[in-house]
Formats: sequence, structure tokens, C-alpha cells
Amino acid sequence: MAHAVLAVVVVSLSLPLGFYSSQSYVLDDKQGLGRVFDGIGGLSGGGATSRLLVNYAEPYRSQILDYLFKPDFGASLHILKVEIGGDAQTTDGTEPSHMHYENDENYFRGYEWWLMKEAKKRNPNITLIGLPWAFPGWVGHGKNWPYDFPDITAAYVVNWILGAKQYHDLDIQYVGIWNERNFDSKYIKLLRYTLDKNGLERVRIIASDNLWEPIALSLLLDPELSRAVDVIGAHYPGTTTVSDALKTQKKLWSSEDYSTFNDEVGGGCWARILNQNYVNGHMTATISWNLVASYYEKLPFGRDGLMTAEEPWSGNYVVESPVWITAHTTQFSQPGWTYLQTVGQLAQGGSYIALTDGKGNLTVVIETMTHDHSVCIRPPLPVFNVTSQNATFLLKGSFASIKELQVWRSQFNFRTKNPSFFEKLTPLKLLDGSFTLNLVEDEVYTLTTITTGRKGSHPDPPPSARFPKIYKDNFNVRSPPFSEAPNFADQTGVFENYVNMTDPGPHTFTLRQVITERPVTWATDADQTISVIGDYQWHNLMVTCDVFMENTKTGGVFIAARVDKGGQSVRSAKGIFFWVFADGTYKVTSDLAGQTVLEEGQSGTQAYGWHTLSLTVKGQSALGLLDGNPLWNNTVVPSPKNGWAAIGTHSFELAQFDNFVVVAE
Ligand SMILES: *[C@@H]1O[C@H](CO)[C@@H](O)[C@H](O)[C@H]1NC(C)=O
Ligand SMILES: *[C@@H]1O[C@H](CO)[C@@H](O)[C@H](O)[C@H]1NC(C)=O
Ligand SMILES: *[C@@H]1O[C@H](CO)[C@@H](O)[C@H](O)[C@H]1NC(C)=O
Ligand SMILES: *[C@@H]1O[C@H](CO)[C@@H](O)[C@H](O)[C@H]1NC(C)=O
Ligand SMILES: *[C@@H]1O[C@H](CO)[C@@H](O)[C@H](O)[C@H]1NC(C)=O
Ligand SMILES: *[C@@H]1O[C@H](CO)[C@@H](O)[C@H](O)[C@H]1NC(C)=O
Repeated sequence: MAHAVLAVVVVSLSLPLGFYSSQSYVLDDKQGLGRVFDGIGGLSGGGATSRLLVNYAEPYRSQILDYLFKPDFGASLHILKVEIGGDAQTTDGTEPSHMHYENDENYFRGYEWWLMKEAKKRNPNITLIGLPWAFPGWVGHGKNWPYDFPDITAAYVVNWILGAKQYHDLDIQYVGIWNERNFDSKYIKLLRYTLDKNGLERVRIIASDNLWEPIALSLLLDPELSRAVDVIGAHYPGTTTVSDALKTQKKLWSSEDYSTFNDEVGGGCWARILNQNYVNGHMTATISWNLVASYYEKLPFGRDGLMTAEEPWSGNYVVESPVWITAHTTQFSQPGWTYLQTVGQLAQGGSYIALTDGKGNLTVVIETMTHDHSVCIRPPLPVFNVTSQNATFLLKGSFASIKELQVWRSQFNFRTKNPSFFEKLTPLKLLDGSFTLNLVEDEVYTLTTITTGRKGSHPDPPPSARFPKIYKDNFNVRSPPFSEAPNFADQTGVFENYVNMTDPGPHTFTLRQVITERPVTWATDADQTISVIGDYQWHNLMVTCDVFMENTKTGGVFIAARVDKGGQSVRSAKGIFFWVFADGTYKVTSDLAGQTVLEEGQSGTQAYGWHTLSLTVKGQSALGLLDGNPLWNNTVVPSPKNGWAAIGTHSFELAQFDNFVVVAE
């Protein structure tokens, strides 16, 4: 596909008070069009990035979803990509699998089903994508590798797609291989075969959610593999592609991108890549990791979402600039529209793209983001210059007769720190099929024949507040359809609401850790399971919880305070961990791995009996109670000085928790 040569003409106009010039850019469909547009999307998961969203009370939760998905309102996303939960840590937490065990199937775990339904409720045309990061241990038969038994892995993934349809009426349109890990050609072919065999011919395969190579070359060399794959999905491509990828003639997507702190520079990053992923790299879809920053901010990559919703306890959320930057494209184009060939760089820096529905509608998006105001987290951004410029756009071909264009503008105004986003300006009247814009640095413009754009708004949410200092959960009140307890963020293992039908009370309803073998991991999960909760600034506090071990020989459980790490760093989490074991002993350690022992001794604890643990930390001293009696006291605790509260188990083993209480100072 040919791309327009930029700066076609230099128009000089003589004016009484001097001279100015304007570069001209032709927008034309006479020579044919460019690639078909597939949409702009957000990624929930990879991992647990929407964890706190589900705990928002109404109406705030629906408002957040409106800003993300509602057409002609906010980000109005075209694509929702979700993690196929694999019971393992995948960046900011674990997401539950639909098959924890080989003979287990449950399509009501986690929040991704709910999120897809909420997205579809708002936009019935939304494109849905699923991708695994990790797999339950049984899929790998104990090896950290999902391809030794490709038929099992394919059946496992296809079950998730079938379950989405059967239980939630969700049509998954695309499925991926193994996020940012090796692919296996034999597995991809088998996945294609298994999809087809199950009547899922319409489901397309994206490969390989990593770099352009080696998948592009593999597709060129292996026609059968090429028939199986519809889209090459690359991550963080830095707006460029490679010649092998172009030679495959496949759709090219930035299937994960952005991952940048969502302040105004984050918005600038997003504006630049949304345009330039097509201009430079021929990519027809761009998907943001992540959709919404709904995880504790002190977990890795805090606030790297299109908007922020990390305080379900207050109801506060923030519609950040990337939402409005997204709207510049999404509200004025749809998947199935086509890019014009005439797209490109602006002479004084920045870029423009143009899209058409093929029925006369035209949408032009222009960005003039400067280097320092559009740096993304990765890859490194080579230097370039952007200066103010006049740009004249000449509408040709079927666009020559357009008489009026709607105008939407965002100005970052970094100098005055007074940005204005997605502002509707007076429509432009076109006299001779052309218009000129006086562009300054750090702006985004949309010019379009589409008249339905709208800057949606809800009343301001409640003010931000810290996590409550007194927090209790007896796990008796469930919030269907969710399988997890509010605000607990699993970092290794999966903690689920559990009902013991045979228990007459008081422990009929509990929280249960259910993963019994190490998953096929994506990150370095801990050898222990752990779920964190609360305020990372907590220093002096008391944590109390009833615990129930179900592993008679090697069982062990803990409660903890001042836990300083989660996500991919969970293995090296420090804090104050109070453990009891099924062999009748206890320990106090300053790390999750249990390597630094502060106290140990006899506790008399056993499996299949409930015990109450209580941990009080004050300054440099800690105290532990077992069933109301002091077990250890005046233990000097080393750093960290603050962190989350937590519960967990000594290994991948069943255990239950009840009547969780935190009282913080
Ligand atoms: C969904 O797509 C169809 C066909 O492109 C279109 O007619 C319809 O308006 C779309 N619906 C929404 C809610 O966008
Ligand atoms: C543009 O799209 C609208 C629907 O959004 C449609 O009614 C109209 O016919 C299209 N064509 C033109 C030239 O505006
Ligand atoms: C950007 O502008 C500066 C100052 O005019 C110049 O020194 C530099 O070479 C330019 N860089 C690029 C990449 O054009
Ligand atoms: C753009 O055009 C205006 C006149 O409309 C002129 O005042 C200005 O200097 C021009 N800017 C540039 C960068 O050429
Ligand atoms: C369920 O409750 C019964 C009665 O209290 C108890 O004996 C049994 O161990 C419990 N089972 C589990 C898995 O919690
Ligand atoms: C722990 O030790 C402190 C200081 O010696 C003492 O004041 C306190 O009563 C002890 N707590 C318990 C529960 O024994």
C-alpha cells in the first residue's frame, strides 16, 4: 500500500503585513483506500487490573462503564480484550480460571464475564478478545509449559469461548496464544482445528502477542500456519512494523500498547500512537493496557489505565485525558471503516490520519504532540521536533463536495497547566473543498462529517478518601455474580467465596484459597498464596482473622501487616507474617518466603478446626494472639514501616478464612 508523500505543495499567500506559508495535504480516495480499520480497545486483565472496579457502589460503577464503553459519550471503545484467567499472577494480581482442576468447569468466576456483558450492554457491536497469560497447573501436567499437551491446552481455551456463549451469550471474536511468551506452531494449528471442530470457525486467531518476529517469518514459511492465523498482534511496537509482517498481508495490530501513567503525558503518548501506529506501522487496531486502573496504586504500573477507578470505598474515580483522546477517533469512526492512503506526518511534526465509511463520511484526526509530552513507558522514543504550523487540507475524490466539517479539539496547554479536552468548536464551512488549521504544539483535532459526537458527563463522583481504618468482612454478604470478596487482591493463589452446606454456622460462609498446585505461571508467583487488602500507608494496626486449614500434614496459614510488595514482585514481599501450622507450631517472619524468622514455637493448632489469629503492630513492636491468648509479645519488627494487610497459605493448599477485621490507627 502506498502512503502519501507529505508536503505536496507549499502555498504562499501574500498578505499586506508579511508572509506566511501553509503546507498542504491532500485527502483523496481516487487511487483507492488503505487498510480496513479494526478499532481502538482496552485490555482488562494481565492481570487483575479491573479488580477494584466491581466493588464500586452504583451509580458510580455504571458511570465508569459509561465513560469507557457507551457510544458517543466518552472513550466509546470498539474493542474489549480480557484475560482468560489462569489462576496465576499476571502483573497486578491473579485471575481465576474457569477450570481450576481437570474435572472442574465454572463460568461464573472473576469479573471479566461481567465486564464483557456490561460493555456489550452499552455497545452491542463491541469486539471481544480473549488471551491467556497463565494456565492452571494441570494443563501443563506439572511443567511450566502449556504446549506439551497441545490438545489439552486447545480444549481448555475453546471451553472458555464456548462457556462465554453458553452462560453469558458473549461471542468472542478473537483469541490469542500465550501472552508475551513463546508460541508453538503445532499448538496454533491445533487451536484452529479445535475451534473449527466446535463450530467456532468465525473465531479468529491473533498471534503471537509478543514481537513482530518470529511469528511474521513463521507465517511466511508455513502456509498452514498462515491459514490458521488472521492477525499479527505485536506489543509496544513503538509505532513501527517490520517488512516480514507487511509481506504476510495479515492484519497488523498493536494488540497491547500504552501502559503509561495516565497523566497528561500519558494522554500525549496515547494521542501520538493512536495516529502513528497506522501512519508508520500500518496497524489497524491499538489496545491499551490497561482499560481502567482499578487496582491498588502501589501495585506495579499504578494508574496505567485509560482512566482511574481505584477507590471503591469512596466512590471516587477520575476520567483521565486518555479517555478524551480516545474519543477523538472512536466517536467518529467504527471498525469496518477504511483508512485513506493519504495519511502521514505533518511537515513541522505531528501526524494526520483519515478514515471513511465508504459512504461519503470522512473523519480526520490530527495530532501535534511534542516529544517530551508524548513519551510512553516503552520503547524509547527517538527525538523529533514539533513546532506550530499552518496546515491546509485539500479534499479530493468523493470528499471534494463536503461542505461542512464538525471540529473537536484537545489542547494540552502544558505551559499554563490548563488543558482543555475534547471541546466542540464551531463547524467549519468549506468553500472550495479545503480548510486550513493553525496548529500549535500538543494539540489533537478531529474534523469529521459525523455529527453524533458528544462529550458525555455524569455528576462529579464523591471526593477521594483513604481506605477505611476499621474494616470488617465476615464473608456472609455475597455480591453475586462475583466469586471474590470485596477489596481483597489475590497476588498468588485464588481466594473465593465459599459455602459449607454442612456447617450449621458460624462458618457456613467463608473465603477459601482454592489453588492446590503451582500454575503454569506468567510471572514469578510466590510459593505461598497471598491476598492483600487495605491502605499501603498502614503502619500501626491490628489484623484479626479466623483460619481453617484443610491440609492435615503440611498445612499452614498466615495473617500479615505492612506487606510491601505484590504483583510480579510478590515473591520478595516483606512485612510481618504470623503463621500457624497444622503440625501444632507457629512462626513470625518478616517475609512471605519465611526466610527471616522472628519468633517460633508451639501453638497446638491443627487442620479441620477453626482458630482465631490476631496480629497487632505498633511502632517497632508486634504481638500475636491465638484464640484470644497471647502467643508471642514484644517482638521487634524490622522494616518495612508500612504496607497492606494480608492473608494467605504456606503452600498451594486449601484453607479458609472468616471474620476478617482490621483496625488501623
Ligand atoms: C452496530 O453495527 C450496525 C452495523 O454496522 C449498525 O447499524 C448499528 O448502528 C451499530 N449499533 C451501535 C449501537 O453502534
Ligand atoms: C454519514 O454517516 C451518517 C450516519 O452516521 C449517514 O446518515 C450519512 O448518510 C453518511 N454520509 C454522509 C455523506 O454524511
Ligand atoms: C530539533 O531542533 C533542534 C533545535 O532547532 C535541532 O538542533 C535538532 O537537530 C532538531 N532535531 C531533529 C530530530 O530534527
Ligand atoms: C499561520 O497563518 C497565520 C495567518 O492566518 C499567521 O499569522 C501565522 O504566522 C502562520 N503561522 C505559521 C507557523 O506559519
Ligand atoms: C464443613 O463443615 C463441617 C461441619 O462444621 C465440617 O466438619 C467440615 O470440615 C467443613 N468442611 C469444609 C471443607 O470446610
Ligand atoms: C505485651 O507486652 C507489653 C509490654 O511488656 C505489655 O504491656 C502487654 O500487656 C503485653 N500484651 C499482652 C497481650 O500480653
